[in-house]
Amino acid sequence: MEEVKVDLGVRSYQIKVGEDLLKDIGTYLTELEIGSKVLIITNDLVDSLYGQEVKDSLKEVGFTVEVAKIGDGEKYKSLETAQQLYDQAVVAGLDRSSSILALGGGVVGDIAGFIAATYMRGVNFIQVPTTLLAQVDSSVGGKVAVNHAAGKNLIGDFYQPQLVVADINVLSTLEEKELKAGLAEVIKYGVIWDEEFFTFLEDNYKEILTLEPQQVQHLIKVSCQIKAAVVAQDETERGLRAILNYGHTLGHALEAVTDYQYYRHGEGVAIGMLGAAKLAHQIGWLDKADVIRQQRLIENFGLPTSFSQWSVDEICQALTKDKKVEDGVIRFILAKEIGEVEIIADLEENLIKEVTQELKVGDEK
Ligand code: NAD
Ligand code: GLY
Repeated sequence: MEEVKVDLGVRSYQIKVGEDLLKDIGTYLTELEIGSKVLIITNDLVDSLYGQEVKDSLKEVGFTVEVAKIGDGEKYKSLETAQQLYDQAVVAGLDRSSSILALGGGVVGDIAGFIAATYMRGVNFIQVPTTLLAQVDSSVGGKVAVNHAAGKNLIGDFYQPQLVVADINVLSTLEEKELKAGLAEVIKYGVIWDEEFFTFLEDNYKEILTLEPQQVQHLIKVSCQIKAAVVAQDETERGLRAILNYGHTLGHALEAVTDYQYYRHGEGVAIGMLGAAKLAHQIGWLDKADVIRQQRLIENFGLPTSFSQWSVDEICQALTKDKKVEDGVIRFILAKEIGEVEIIADLEENLIKEVTQELKVGDEK
């Protein structure tokens, strides 16, 4: 097992990454200063696969365990679901010493964290992420939220977990497209922070796709180390943390024009990363060779690098409506080289349109 520390003073916590960790969850929780009640928030699918093991482990060391299940899918990350979860927390008799344990992907993790942050003004929160995306990204860093009809993650908070347990064995039951969606966020870490890690991904993409434990454990550990380093410097996204949105500017616009129905988030990010690489090249920052390296890695992970049927004008319009637009300014995260990015806010509209047009080619899916 590997451990990564998220260094946030009194809110610091450990991320445990390794094989076969679910059976020891109970023991890990006894190392935290928490009360005896745990409410597991999960969904039917994840519960059927891993719920029993987690429950048994917690009960074995004396915790009282209740389970609350939410629907499977982004639409259940809502205030309506939150209302039901508050009701279940009350019925379960959760008090301020109790804990909420998120067992699932990013949807479960985000809403469970939102409940943990707000129920009784905050109870203990433990993340047990079960998708690759959740293990490398959403379970770390404390962004918790529910969606609103007007936008994704519009209602939320920063609320750090007290522990993250990423058991790599659970990835074996993940659908291939979910695994690949998570890999887009992994590529992101290489581009924004660590050229050596990017090279590791290039050299090991086949082993990663077949879930070789050593490579997968390394990939999750390094991704978490990078996210932890960024979050430790800028917990509430006043500046630096925005670099974690590499590829997300165009990616979100693509998700928005397709009404969040067509692309997995990671697929949008994959196309968005290539867009960002091309933009960086156009303004003289990134070498052509490094644009090609990004394109090849995205393709090797089986992710899209272009789109066909959507309108460039609509995508560019969606860019201006993104939650991350501040004072009408669209911000891009662009690479100077692989491993180093900067936030740029004054790109010409024509250039953005030109590059978006370049991404629109034959049918990629
Ligand atoms: P998800 O939670 O919807 O999970 C994807 C699918 O995989 C679901 O059907 C789920 O039931 C299933 N699943 C989960 N674990 C499984 C397993 N081990 N085996 C088989 N199936 C499994 O999607 P996601 O990609 O994990 O998360 C997306 C969410 O994460 C979005 O709501 C997004 O906004 C959020 N997010 C949050 C942050 C953050 O910092 N908080 C960062 C990135 C994304
Ligand atoms: N996923 C982006 C962030 O946590 O800031």
